[in-house]
Amino acid sequence: MDEIAGVVSNTKLTGGLWQLVVRAPELARSAQPGQFAHIRLSGHGEHVLRRPLSIHDVYADRRGDFDYVSFIYQIIGAGTETLASYRMEDSLEVLGPLGRGWHPPEATGKALLVGGGVGYVPLMLLAGTLHARGIETLSAIGMRDRDNALAFYGASSYRTWDVRDVEGSGRVREAWATDDGSFGHHGLVTELSAHFLGEEDFDYVAACGPEPMMRIVAEQAQAAGVYCEVSLERHMACGIGACLSCIVATTEGQKRACADGPVFSAREVIWQ
Ligand SMILES: Cc1cc2nc3c(=O)[nH]c(=O)nc-3n(C[C@H](O)[C@H](O)[C@H](O)COP(=O)(O)OP(=O)(O)OC[C@H]3O[C@@H](n4cnc5c(N)ncnc54)[C@H](O)[C@@H]3O)c2cc1C
Ligand code: FES
Repeated sequence: MDEIAGVVSNTKLTGGLWQLVVRAPELARSAQPGQFAHIRLSGHGEHVLRRPLSIHDVYADRRGDFDYVSFIYQIIGAGTETLASYRMEDSLEVLGPLGRGWHPPEATGKALLVGGGVGYVPLMLLAGTLHARGIETLSAIGMRDRDNALAFYGASSYRTWDVRDVEGSGRVREAWATDDGSFGHHGLVTELSAHFLGEEDFDYVAACGPEPMMRIVAEQAQAAGVYCEVSLERHMACGIGACLSCIVATTEGQKRACADGPVFSAREVIWQ
């Protein structure tokens, strides 16, 4: 499962975020939305532990072979600082895809995806996959400010604060919120999710972001009677279920975020 991944690009985005694209055919061809890769910083022996990053997207080459995997990350400490120093033709060891990803119910016709900060990353591949299955999606996305939002948004011409209809069909929509009001709704992403759950009917809610945010979304979804999944972040050592460093308290006992998650049914999570 460990694969030597060649760095294709490692680019600084706005808002202090970075995008890393690697050539890792085995990972690219088997990754499912919500799964992650456990990355060893090859050549940097001081970083013994790997760093977990969600699969942001997978790309095909000109022949149509899905060989490339994208990650979006923020610099938190020494490991991600070192990751940002990788350049084209450097290589990393990637273990994955790992974990249990999103599992929307089979009969889902319309989904609400709620992301906060880099928590939006694992929802992006989910949105694409749901769309390919003909499922209508509305993504409610919360960021600190405009720079953070634009890193994900990928365009600077956005002028309307209303829900954006990404492809003009009304079946793939996005709504943005920022803490400082510099992009989209001025306020919390949970205000957007409350609004949409009150106004529209959904069959499925997926949430990833800070834990207090996910807890509120889980409560909103429960009140609206909609099945909800959340992706939980824990410090991870092995990443494959062996060391028990990533325990999550659930109604069914302790589970491992790396192997039983990171995606859990919101109903089973005992919030701390
Ligand atoms: C399943 C999963 C998916 C993730 N996906 C993303 C993503 O797509 N983008 C992104 O920016 N971040 C993501 N993170 C968080 C990311 O792994 C941490 O920010 C990163 O490991 C920090 O490493 P560091 O050495 O820079 O920081 P330090 O704080 O110096 O890290 C020290 C140690 O703590 C661990 N650690 C620190 N913070 C976290 C954290 N929040 N979660 C897990 N381990 C942590 C590190 O792996 C390292 O072993 C994800 C975490 C998990 C568990
Ligand atoms: S990280 Fe070792 S069991 Fe989850």
